[in-house]
This record gives sequence, C-alpha cells and structure tokens, in this order.
Amino acid sequence: MKKLELRIVFSEYENATELGTIEQELIQKAIKACDSAYAPYSDFHVGAALLLENGVIITGNNQENVAYPSALCAERVAIYYAGSQYPDIAIKTIAITCKSATVHLTEPLSPCGACRQAMAEYETRHNNKIKVILVGDKGKIRVVESVADLLPFMFKADELKKA
Ligand code: THU
Repeated sequence: MKKLELRIVFSEYENATELGTIEQELIQKAIKACDSAYAPYSDFHVGAALLLENGVIITGNNQENVAYPSALCAERVAIYYAGSQYPDIAIKTIAITCKSATVHLTEPLSPCGACRQAMAEYETRHNNKIKVILVGDKGKIRVVESVADLLPFMFKADELKKA
C-alpha cells in the first residue's frame, strides 16, 4: 500500500476589478443571468456565462421543476446550449454566481458534481482547458485554470472504450 497526494492550484481575488476585462464582463453577465433563473422552490438563483473561442458569450441559469429532480443547474443549461448551437467551438471560460433573498454565500459558489462532470466533458471533447471563475454574493473570487482541477479522477471517455 502507498499513500499518494493530489494537488490542485487555484487563485483567489479580493474582487472582480483584479481580473481582466473579459472575465469581469463574464461575471457581470452571470450576475444578470441570475435575474431570469426559474428557482421558485429553492429561491437560490444561479447564473452562468461562458465565453467561446469565437468570442460569443452564452448565459444560462437554473431551471427548477415541481418534480424536483427534473431541474437543471445553470452551468448545464449554458454548457448544453453552447454544445447544441456551437458543437465545434471550444469553451474558453465560464463564470458562475448566485443570488438569493434567503441564502447569502460569503464563499464563492461551488458547482455540483454533475455540473463538474458536464463541464469536464467539453474540456476533453475540445481538448481545451476551460477556466472556471467562481463568485459568491460578495467576498473573494476563486479561479481554476481547468475543470480537471475541480474534478480529480473524473470519469473519462477512454474508460468506455472497448479493448
Ligand atoms: N444550482 C445550480 O444551478 N448550480 C450549482 O452549481 C449549484 C446548484 C441550483 C440547483 C437548484 O436549482 C438550486 O441551485 C439549489 O440547489
């Protein structure tokens, strides 16, 4: 038996002004996307804005359902829209944030496991790292250069390949 250690690297910023112009624009668009989320059950509005290699910005927000498991998170709404409309274009960056009248996130939003797996698929599909910008209500912003950093030991397509 041996014990191994896995290390990830991430950056933290005190506020959005420390980031580049395009990152700030994505954060603003993600904040705005929260306003049109459909989240009557959780009252937790999540917004995502992603930048494609061709410069197009796509936004998405969480879409809930009275049959709770039928809901979809903001990240997947945005990513799947990008995949359906721009199947050949890689995703460069995604910013994710949230707004709620009842819950205040002082830490940057942390995407759920299913969204990490969905984002990872697009990273491997286009062989292109996706920068992920995580923003809370207020407070610091966390950035990883690749979805792989958020999902060590992710399930990969090669694992489905037959010998
Ligand atoms: N949610 C997202 O849209 N993205 C996340 O990363 C975390 C959670 C949504 C799902 C549900 O509509 C609400 O937030 C509360 O979990």
